[in-house]
Amino acid sequence: MTNIREVRKESEFLLDVRELKTYFHTFKGVVKAVDGVSFSLKRGDILGVVGESGCGKSVTGFSVLRLIDSPGRIEGGEIIFEGDSLLKKSEREMEKIRGNKISMIFQDPMTSLNPVYTIKKQICETLELHGGLRGKEAHNRAVELLRLVGIPSPESRVNYYPHQFSGGMRQRVIIAISLATSPSLIIADEPTTALDVTVQAQLMKRLYQLVKSNNSSMILITHDLSLVSGVSDNIIVMYCGRVIEKGSSESVISMPAHPYTVGLLESIPKMTGERKMLHQISGMVPNPFEMPPGCSFYPRCELGQKICEAEYPRLREIEEGHYVSCHFAGRRNF
Ligand SMILES: Nc1ncnc2c1ncn2[C@@H]1O[C@H](COP(=O)(O)OP(=O)(O)OP(=O)(O)O)[C@@H](O)[C@H]1O
Ligand SMILES: [Mg+2]
Repeated sequence: MTNIREVRKESEFLLDVRELKTYFHTFKGVVKAVDGVSFSLKRGDILGVVGESGCGKSVTGFSVLRLIDSPGRIEGGEIIFEGDSLLKKSEREMEKIRGNKISMIFQDPMTSLNPVYTIKKQICETLELHGGLRGKEAHNRAVELLRLVGIPSPESRVNYYPHQFSGGMRQRVIIAISLATSPSLIIADEPTTALDVTVQAQLMKRLYQLVKSNNSSMILITHDLSLVSGVSDNIIVMYCGRVIEKGSSESVISMPAHPYTVGLLESIPKMTGERKMLHQISGMVPNPFEMPPGCSFYPRCELGQKICEAEYPRLREIEEGHYVSCHFAGRRNF
């Protein structure tokens, strides 16, 4: 007889985040950086997490890895990974999961690489720690990984130090390290933001191919909706610590429903049609210590009415799998 635990393990979801709440208790008050966020991710899928600066994207990523330090705390919710609750794991168990089953790519490659060690030493360390590879075997795998991420002459470059690489090449090295243990989940936080636009596109394409060919899953965090639209299977749009719209990429991009998502899409330059001024979402994100009681987008919203000021709009399904948190959302063609 199969028990509940086994049924859960067989679930189609690799990751299931439910009503996650991560708050920071600062001397000025409580910042609800992530306030009731839910999403799930199937094996092999890519989930794009988008939204303006400060909306809680990184804190969501760090929470999944349980890398939240004081004054931050995960206050509630569930994080189910491969059928097990990560919030119930001990710190030792989490250490095994980090960098092995779940790896993370950060925005700034210089903070993730140690300047005093060669790339070889840094990749081999990961391979030894999490994959049990040593000596020649580890060396060969390090060279192979550098080749996979598109670093020319990897046999010699594996002996370089981080400063001998350009920014784009360093970020490729980070991606190589994150793939070293063939993780089932990669959390990539603005992986290409620090790079120029052409390098961004190349690297995104390579990352996409590697994730898909490994049958890994990825949470791709970015403020750039145009970047995720081409590579993600699903998208969640965050605003002030909450998910305000989610659905398949196709549905969210071609028929956005929340006025905020519409605004984000209108601020992306288009390659076709006549030249026109880019749209800007007017107003500012509310102060995290003075959140309005109703919809947090209300002060900036063109559709706003009395009810929006008083009542937070619950996420509702407007089409199968496409949810929006807005009292008056209507789908618009893009
Ligand atoms: N250590 C901390 N102490 C207090 N507040 C914090 C801390 N870390 C994050 N926050 C707050 O949590 C909120 C969400 O931050 P987060 O870094 O997740 O934003 P983000 O969406 O990743 O933004 P960006 O696009 O700029 O990276 C912000 O209001 C931020 O100020
Ligand atoms: Mg961030």
